[in-house]
Amino acid sequence: MPESWCTAAFGAFYPVLYAHRDEAEARRCLDLLPRLAPLGAAGAAPVLDLGCGDGRHLALLGAAGLPAVGLDLSASLLRAARSRAAGLALVRGDMRALPFAGGRFGAVLSLFTAFGYFGDEGGDRAVAAGVGRVLADGGHWFLDYLDADRVRAELAAGPLTRERTAGPLAVRETRRLDAGAVAKDVCLRPLPGREAEAAALDVGADGVAYTEFVRLYGLAELDSLAAAGGLRRVAAAGDYDGAPLGQGPRWLLAFRKEVPA
Ligand SMILES: C[S@@+](CC[C@H](N)C(=O)[O-])C[C@H]1O[C@@H](n2cnc3c(N)ncnc32)[C@H](O)[C@@H]1O
Repeated sequence: MPESWCTAAFGAFYPVLYAHRDEAEARRCLDLLPRLAPLGAAGAAPVLDLGCGDGRHLALLGAAGLPAVGLDLSASLLRAARSRAAGLALVRGDMRALPFAGGRFGAVLSLFTAFGYFGDEGGDRAVAAGVGRVLADGGHWFLDYLDADRVRAELAAGPLTRERTAGPLAVRETRRLDAGAVAKDVCLRPLPGREAEAAALDVGADGVAYTEFVRLYGLAELDSLAAAGGLRRVAAAGDYDGAPLGQGPRWLLAFRKEVPA
């Protein structure tokens, strides 16, 4: 499996860094999705949470009685998912090569920007094609992506740096535009006196530094990537409360797998 920034970024410290991306937010997101398109039902084809991370959405789907499977590449996030709720169906794998039979899922979820990571259209195209393959006819792909137009506008004048703390960590993040992507340079260091807690999150005394890249696809490009997988956009919103597209910070898109004529 090719090395990428994802290996560095989605480590044991990730849930602490993104602690605000919690179960309450996951609930808001999951409440919205069925307003966009059918999400699934008990006894129906399962839901695939693609890039499920620490399982915050998957646990809620399970608690609601929906059959669901989570796939992620990160061993430490899958461990966190395992300890969040008993009995979650978890698979370690690469979203570019889905280890599932065609037509197996009634819905596929790519939530909190679990898309656009592979730097070239080839990798992201493979993800969209794989989603199209594993979806049953008439099933839906729910893509929760950043509003790329808004990100471009926000960073047009230059990089933005933010310093904050997260648990035992001092965090410095610089967001900038980088050749069709948004890059985030991240530097993590243990807070004084909290070195042992930081080490438990795999952040040693020298700290950890890496850069995240998410490709800034426009809506028409996302539609075209999805279309290559046999998927057509049928609904959209701009935030987890259902604001119209363009009137919120995110693009929540539902694509339907077309039934062959
Ligand atoms: C931004 S996080 C979102 C996690 C989760 N969906 C959530 O909302 O909390 C992206 C997830 O994609 C996973 N990921 C990154 N590259 C991957 C790959 N090639 N295959 C599978 N999962 C991957 C990461 O490990 C991480 O859990």
